Amino acid sequence: MSTKATVEKLVSLCKRRGLVFQSSEIYGGIGGFWDYGPLGVELKNNIKQAWWRAVVQERDDVVGQDAAIVMNPTVWRASGHLDTFADPMVDCKECKKRFRADALVGEVPASAHGHEAAAKVTRCPECGGELTEPRMFNLMFKTYVGAVEDDASVAYLRPETAQGIFVNFANVLTATRKKLPLGIAQIGKAFRNEITPGNFIFRDREFEQMEIEYFVKPGTDEQWHQHWVEERYNWYLRLGMQKENVRVRQLDRDELAHYAKDTYEVEYLFPMGWSELEGIANRTDFDLRRHAEFSGRDLEYFDEETGEHIVPFVIEPSAGVDRLFMAFLIDAYDEEDVRGETRVILRLHKDLAPIKVAVLPLSRQEKLVPPAREVWALVRKHWMSQYDDAQSIGRRYRRQDEVGTPLCVTVDFDTLEDQAVTIRERDSMEQVRVPIPGLVAALRERLERS
Ligand code: GAP
Repeated sequence: MSTKATVEKLVSLCKRRGLVFQSSEIYGGIGGFWDYGPLGVELKNNIKQAWWRAVVQERDDVVGQDAAIVMNPTVWRASGHLDTFADPMVDCKECKKRFRADALVGEVPASAHGHEAAAKVTRCPECGGELTEPRMFNLMFKTYVGAVEDDASVAYLRPETAQGIFVNFANVLTATRKKLPLGIAQIGKAFRNEITPGNFIFRDREFEQMEIEYFVKPGTDEQWHQHWVEERYNWYLRLGMQKENVRVRQLDRDELAHYAKDTYEVEYLFPMGWSELEGIANRTDFDLRRHAEFSGRDLEYFDEETGEHIVPFVIEPSAGVDRLFMAFLIDAYDEEDVRGETRVILRLHKDLAPIKVAVLPLSRQEKLVPPAREVWALVRKHWMSQYDDAQSIGRRYRRQDEVGTPLCVTVDFDTLEDQAVTIRERDSMEQVRVPIPGLVAALRERLERS
């Protein structure tokens, strides 16, 4: 983690520069929900694109899909979520604050749901008041489908995208005519009525997941598990995360979810300590067997090599977009002293930067407007870019540094004579003059350089 980044600085930067806003802020907000502003949505899309490119586009054994958020409620009975996706909750009788009992005890990570609380902590950590007995609280948001609000119309907002993949396994297999191993990837919203959302966008009630269910032949599952742990860990490093801030940890048996035989977590050193970014679980054949049982459908795979019908095992790399967003920002955040002033800089990987190129006329003088606008028209066809002519050039460079823009292009009075512009690099602050006809190639060369 950058020693200079704190959650407070990050929240302030995110609000000031339009990355993340509190949801419904003008009404006092609502706990656990966040909105992504103009630059935030770009960064979020870039994270999702980088993931999709790595796990779908660049592989021949993974395909994509996009399932509905609301599913037939029997899905959640089959998956075990109706029975086990619950956290133990305690309330303080004095100050009325609510806590996750297991987090107070500190025995399981706050991400592992479905653990009964060992009722060891009886006093409120905030005011010392007496705590209630733990009660199990299901984290799924309930809703009703159709006009009548009765038991028969109850449905749930999905707490993970994974189940939309399991129930489509046979459809995808038939449609793609693929053989095992086969992965199905999906990006989408998930909802959990977390008892204690917090740490900015780390733990939300509405968030986005990027999940792969990778179906393999039983017996090859452990080897594929290792493959995916390495793949996913290296992905973070390729996108510029500092090695000392990312680690892989194998979970202890008592930390495992109800469906998992073994799980590794990719963890990041957040300001509040090492915390989960992504879980990579061996879900065995649990989900396919349960869905076959509850739906009465055949979800077996015919192995042509052995002539046997098998139920595939599943390796599941599952990451949260919002958590990755926060980690990439913290990792990229830096402050340096430049001529007695503090330069705040987001050293984001070029693929993640919300704006790739900013076009800056040296001043607002009328003569500079047409060439500067022409340069912007050239650039914007290729990359997410921004035109900024407000305040001094120094302040504009700082504004772009602060949101991680890798390249600025400055149009000055010499441009009127020599038809050239200056490219300025974010990290080195080096400047180089290039002729306008060669500008796009020069920018591309810099943006694609690894
Ligand atoms: N399908 C498996 C699954 O959902 P999980 O560990 O509960 O496993 C996977 O969630 C990832 O989703 C986590 O590693 C985390 O990045 C993200 N995630 C889970 N709950 C979250 C929450 N309340 N807010 C933000 N992200 C969350």
